[in-house]
Amino acid sequence: MQIFTTEKDLKLFLDSLRNNNIALVPTMGGLHEGHLSLVDKAKSLAQIVVVSIFVNPTQFARGEDFDDYPNTFDSDKLLLESKKVDALFLPSKDEIYPHGTESDYKVGDIGQILCGAFRPTHFNGVAQVVRRFFEIVNPNYAVFGEKDFQQLLIIKSLVKNLNFKIKIESIPTQREEDGLAMSTRNQYLSDLDREKAPHFYSVLSDTRDALLDGKSIYDAREDALNTLSKSFEVEYLEVLDANNLTQIETKTTEIIIISAIRFGGTRLIDNLVFRRKNV
Ligand code: PAF
Repeated sequence: MQIFTTEKDLKLFLDSLRNNNIALVPTMGGLHEGHLSLVDKAKSLAQIVVVSIFVNPTQFARGEDFDDYPNTFDSDKLLLESKKVDALFLPSKDEIYPHGTESDYKVGDIGQILCGAFRPTHFNGVAQVVRRFFEIVNPNYAVFGEKDFQQLLIIKSLVKNLNFKIKIESIPTQREEDGLAMSTRNQYLSDLDREKAPHFYSVLSDTRDALLDGKSIYDAREDALNTLSKSFEVEYLEVLDANNLTQIETKTTEIIIISAIRFGGTRLIDNLVFRRKNV
């Protein structure tokens, strides 16, 4: 695996390989099995796989965990080598933002709901850095996790709006044995909170089962909010159309239960997508 820290060197390397398909997996490090599944997907799509590790300051607001974000570089590198990744891109902030961090791309309304209502600048920062990676790497494919479902839709619309010729691929949320969605931020949980955390996913699963059994969306959402708030501080829980995160209509068949909670100082997100029968 070759390591690049500059746009120039990475481009030079990739330009000699453009007769192959190239897949990009952007990350912020703190790699776990979920990231490795993204790499596996990338390898199934393309001959050349590039992984980036960059903790992007513009997607963190003041008071969030930018300074504390887990840095596990030595183990990240070993994991990526074991997966035979071709190139690891490790840029500095100046390399990504040589002209400062102003951005002219705004993600629009979809960036203001759900997580965006609690982190108003977050998705503009994500779009800004992903756009930059797309310009530098110019991959045929880019692979993202479905745990960050809202992010995934925002990146798909970025590709469309800016006419990138990049196929966005995703993989389902990878879970621990007890159901907790894999996340770098799970490291922040105390042992006791880690024991309680899988309850988040079990409430989402119970809500899906209740909806499939015919409970109304209103009642299912109310019950889920009541149950979740007994154990966690709930930021939001919504039941929406999974295609565009809008309200469910009679014609909607793909449904998402999507939620963010806080507990013990840690913010966790999760979602569950399913198809509605009998429509
Ligand atoms: O999902 C993430 O880890 C980040 O938001 C991303 C896509 C790497 C952009 O910094």
